[in-house]
Amino acid sequence: MKALYSRILKKITPSKKELVEEKKLVDLIRKNVNKMEGKHSHLEWCGSSARGTHLTGDKDLDLFVMFDKNLSAHELEEEGLRIGKEVFKGHKWETAYSQHPYIRGEINGFEVEIVPGYVVSSGAEKQSAVDRTPFHNKYLLKRMKVSQRQETRLLKQFLKGIGAYGADLKNQALPGYGVELLVLYYGSFDKTIKAISKWKEKTVIKIEKVKRDVSEDFIAPLVLIDSVDENRNVASALSVEQYNKMILAAQKFLKNPSEKFFFGNKLDEWSVEKVKEALSKREFIVIEADFPTNILPDLVWGQLRRYLRKAATHMEENDFIIKRSALWSDEKKIFFMYELNALTLPKVQKVLGPPATDAENVKKFLARKRKIISGPREENGRIVIEAEREKTSAALVLREFVEETKKNEKKGLKEGLAHAKVLPESEILKHYKGTFAEHFTKYLEGKEIFE
Ligand code: CTP
Ligand code: MG
Repeated sequence: MKALYSRILKKITPSKKELVEEKKLVDLIRKNVNKMEGKHSHLEWCGSSARGTHLTGDKDLDLFVMFDKNLSAHELEEEGLRIGKEVFKGHKWETAYSQHPYIRGEINGFEVEIVPGYVVSSGAEKQSAVDRTPFHNKYLLKRMKVSQRQETRLLKQFLKGIGAYGADLKNQALPGYGVELLVLYYGSFDKTIKAISKWKEKTVIKIEKVKRDVSEDFIAPLVLIDSVDENRNVASALSVEQYNKMILAAQKFLKNPSEKFFFGNKLDEWSVEKVKEALSKREFIVIEADFPTNILPDLVWGQLRRYLRKAATHMEENDFIIKRSALWSDEKKIFFMYELNALTLPKVQKVLGPPATDAENVKKFLARKRKIISGPREENGRIVIEAEREKTSAALVLREFVEETKKNEKKGLKEGLAHAKVLPESEILKHYKGTFAEHFTKYLEGKEIFE
């Protein structure tokens, strides 16, 4: 195990050079900000790079400009933006939005965020969500042993490898801070993996004393109470699927530890012929749309997941049986994919009615408007008819759905759907390249990458 871990750590730990560059840049910005006139008190370096738990190649620097908590929200925003813009003088920058706007830009290849925050006495006293960040930082710097930094990196990479890292709507998994809390709680990578492998349906973790019983407060498979704010579940983005994936992966890893958990199996992309062959045996239908650019990508992912389900429900309401659905996007193009039992349904549909002796309901049943092909007759005590099915083609049903939703969807997805169309199987092959080919191979193989 030791050898395995050190091999992995070699690949994921930032080099000395990286760390020196990083520190140099932060020091420079700090000096610069300290010199500036203004109401700010100091600069705080936050995020995983400040704690030495980031992975190599991670060039994000989260820097907080701190203000007295009596400053009005409006002033905080203005001051934050002003200082941010000064920092990036001569560099590329843009305004970004979280709870309040802030400036994000690029200096020497680093993506730097200058976020204004209040100096408050505890995380729970926060005025906005970002105010917790400096507390996370202080808390972890104080509590984490130096050796646990590498343990954290291992766990982050493990979760990345199995595709369960990141609290955004695309990944629906754990944020970096959550990973650090797990390592802090269980002690090491090994111990965390062992614990995860034994997680049951619901896990509640409280590292610090919590005044009340929080287990019922959060509807989530994992409740990981934020050590600096007991009202927050750090794992709130983690979906049940991702939670189960973590448990399964941990169990498999313990049985058969290997590097593939961390970096994935090398995927052998299927040839076009092989995909063609697979498609000839399976029934697919796809909605193609464009990734909207007028709202935040993270919000888009939430909309896409909902839409994927909504379209599926619509097809099911029309008697189609969906074996599996999948969502793919490179944040340019979007495919909503459905694998069905059959793309066309028989023209004639057998409809089972009420008991034949229930005259009143039989009357109502027969009064319903439809084209009866055969019947009514009695079968095993029930009234039965065979009626003509109105919609027999999945493509048609889905097309109707797409046209309808083009009008009704909310901002964001609405723009993405403007040129949406329903692709038949034959069209899927035309798009079989790049990251979609990778995704589709994985789908067709139907295995977790760590299996
Ligand atoms: N943060 C949080 N909850 C989230 C995302 C971020 O509390 N869902 C806070 C944490 O304090 C985190 C900081 O914002 O440390 C920076 O966020 P981010 O860069 O996303 O996470 P890191 O902890 O830096 O982890 P990574 O190594 O993935 O960058
Ligand atoms: Mg970060």
